[in-house]
Amino acid sequence: MSAYFRRNIAALAGYVPGEQPGDENVIKLNTNENPYPASPRVFAALRKAINSSLRLYPEPLADSLRAVAASVYGVKPENILAGNGSDEILSIIMRSFIGPEDRVAFPVPTYSLYDTLIAIQQGERISVDYPADFSLPEALVAQNAALTLLCNPNSPSGTVVSLQDIERLARAVSGILVIDEAYVDFAESEGASSLPLIGRLPNLIVLRTFSKSFSLAGMRIGLAFASEEIISGMMKVKDSYNLNRLSLVAATAALQDMPWMTRNIRRIQQSRRQLSAGLRKMGFYVYPSHANFVMARKKEQNLKRLYERLKSQKILVRYFDVAGLQDCLRITVGTPQEIQALLKEMKAIGNNPTT
Ligand SMILES: Cc1ncc(COP(=O)(O)O)c(C=O)c1O
Repeated sequence: MSAYFRRNIAALAGYVPGEQPGDENVIKLNTNENPYPASPRVFAALRKAINSSLRLYPEPLADSLRAVAASVYGVKPENILAGNGSDEILSIIMRSFIGPEDRVAFPVPTYSLYDTLIAIQQGERISVDYPADFSLPEALVAQNAALTLLCNPNSPSGTVVSLQDIERLARAVSGILVIDEAYVDFAESEGASSLPLIGRLPNLIVLRTFSKSFSLAGMRIGLAFASEEIISGMMKVKDSYNLNRLSLVAATAALQDMPWMTRNIRRIQQSRRQLSAGLRKMGFYVYPSHANFVMARKKEQNLKRLYERLKSQKILVRYFDVAGLQDCLRITVGTPQEIQALLKEMKAIGNNPTT
């Protein structure tokens, strides 16, 4: 196996040695999972679905799930494609639209999988730096890209770009615009999603996941919303049975209990305020977050040792060992107890994490 593929398999899996799930004593605030379980309706539906029908293939086009999603999100089923997590949908998008040397533009820093998928397609990676406040970089429109990607809210910053800016961007770019809304349900204001633009902008694809707000990261479910033409094209590229029977059942049941999800969102927003306030008290700059994580910065102070000290105490947060982010930590909003434990440990470590 080539070093290139070893490296990229690691990137695809979000794999960090020693940071895999499983140890109950670990406080896991590094991969933005939801600290609360999915709706009881999901578990009841799953129990019911575990029967001899598992010998049969699942619905190839996820028709039942798409019908429910269409009524929840106010679009037609033909505007929806279901994927094995939004990661798979990103891969379907790359395979649909990008060949060797096709230009793919996106602002950085952002979700690292974009890089990997562009490299696999041998596309041309065009990165445009975010300004210090993480507003939309004006230079993004002028890149003449076949595909433009925007993570909104962005990871790792947690910041959002306005709908007006997104509409302007969609009209100005020459190719497809993908808005990755993995975290949009956690946004402070309800109007943060680009979904209402789908009918008006023929080059727009909006991505959602069940891994974050619906607490189903382990089931691997994502949705893409776009024009009928784009969706029918992507349907031809996806694997025949890309979602298993149980995932389809779980996603459908989750959509049928939206109040459960919104209640968890409110709890996480409340905890996000507490976490942000606690970090600010310790002298961190905390970006205004619209996601289930916060990015905390200690200007020009390398936070690798702090991350390592926390890890030695079984508290996992995310440190990015890349230029421009070494003075930052990205911390998932856990339960109030987990946040208290984290803040307490950070206080104990104090200003001198090297000792
Ligand atoms: C910005 C962003 N997009 C997509 C994903 C992938 O989500 P999924 O679990 O649906 O593949 C993640 C996961 O962390 C993410 O942060």
